[in-house]
Amino acid sequence: MTDDRAPSAPAADGFPQAPGSHDPEALRRRALDALLTARARTATLTDSVEDGELTAQHSPLMSPLVWDLAHIGNQEEQWLLRAVGGRQALRPEIDGLYDAFEHPRSARPSLPLLAPAEARTYASDVRGRALDILEAAPLHEGGRPLERAGFAFGMIAQHEQQHDETMLITHQLRSGPAALTAPAPPDPTDAGSLPGEVLVPAGPFTMGTSAEPWALDNERPAHRREVAAFHLDTSPVTCGAYQRFMADGGYTDPRWWAPEGWDMVREHGLTAPLFWHRDAGQWLRRRFGVTEPVPEDEPVLHVSWYEADAYARWAGRRLPTESEWEKAARHDPATGRSLRYPWGDTDPTPEHANLGQRHLRPARAGAYPAGRAPSGAGQLIGDVWEWTSSDFLPYPGFVAFPYREYSDVFFGPGHKVLRGGSFAVDQVACRGTFRNWDLPIRRQIFSGFRTARDA
Ligand code: AVJ
Ligand code: FE
Repeated sequence: MTDDRAPSAPAADGFPQAPGSHDPEALRRRALDALLTARARTATLTDSVEDGELTAQHSPLMSPLVWDLAHIGNQEEQWLLRAVGGRQALRPEIDGLYDAFEHPRSARPSLPLLAPAEARTYASDVRGRALDILEAAPLHEGGRPLERAGFAFGMIAQHEQQHDETMLITHQLRSGPAALTAPAPPDPTDAGSLPGEVLVPAGPFTMGTSAEPWALDNERPAHRREVAAFHLDTSPVTCGAYQRFMADGGYTDPRWWAPEGWDMVREHGLTAPLFWHRDAGQWLRRRFGVTEPVPEDEPVLHVSWYEADAYARWAGRRLPTESEWEKAARHDPATGRSLRYPWGDTDPTPEHANLGQRHLRPARAGAYPAGRAPSGAGQLIGDVWEWTSSDFLPYPGFVAFPYREYSDVFFGPGHKVLRGGSFAVDQVACRGTFRNWDLPIRRQIFSGFRTARDA
């Protein structure tokens, strides 16, 4: 397992390559490792509460946890057992129940879902067969697109980890005592001496990827983008900075808000990020069943795009575009190349970024010095998803693969792009090119932001 962790030389086209991405056996080990890691997290998230809590709906925004569990198994069955393995459906009658497009989340508790024990057995039956198929699959370059470089296995590991993040959101929304705990993330070492913002000089850079073997369809293909000079916050906006916006009447002044954002503020009476409340003159927050004072220098979490946009306008700044974000995160002026991650082409380690639900909160601003980009910006990967000003749109030359319902049906002005991943996402589903998206009103997700200005 050591050789596939080592960096490999850039390919002839100059694009960075994932370690071991040309070696089928390294890819097979990587796929096995990613599938096992995902399942361990799924087990923690679904074994940490009573069965009654798995079938309950903790919020109309979310599925019952037991739906996510069987949906994880069902996606794996469809792609690894049927599409790659050519197997017959194990339980064709349940496909419709776990099709995210057939039933809205709020309707899922009233469906005849598999009970917790059945859902666990189903997911583990599927997994046993999937591992047999992985063992025999030809993962070489010339193979079928789904199998090439282990793509379908990597896609399914990412899918499970995405639902593990979704299930962690459900855990955050549930009431009652804490079911999950984790150690605190590392403290910053030199936060006091960090500049508030970095300058990214004008010039083209390579956005997206054509080389990363498990990059999803919306990250492709690599293409050149011109980006004008801009300044970007070194760290995500903190709770302390956000409280100054609140104290300055941020939520009561329509000047700062997009019209739809102002409507949302009035309709829901918003005065603070989700999960915050005021008690005896102090702001407190509820985090995974624990109530605690809001930490001043931690990145603000659980804000909608509208709140991020309003804060930036109040601060005399703006949200970065998606291309600005990616250039600040990946462009290496020394070589002219785009890196896989801000720190280089090697996979994340616990020194680089707060990922994988190892900690159940973002690290304070200035942490993870080893994870900084050549631009000087830090904490781009992990901690909090960062809202950008950009709509979720296909790159030039986009081809939906392997199914339109992953990205294609969500393209358009209704969804805003988030970048960089949060503490809740695993590294298999997070990289410099990874694109997330959501509605601009959403705030239960692990979302924060940083601001920018023209240079
Ligand atoms: C990419 C996080 C927006 O959860 O809606 C999971 C990921 N797609 N199953 C979502 C996804 C299908 C998706 N996001
Ligand atoms: Fe899904």
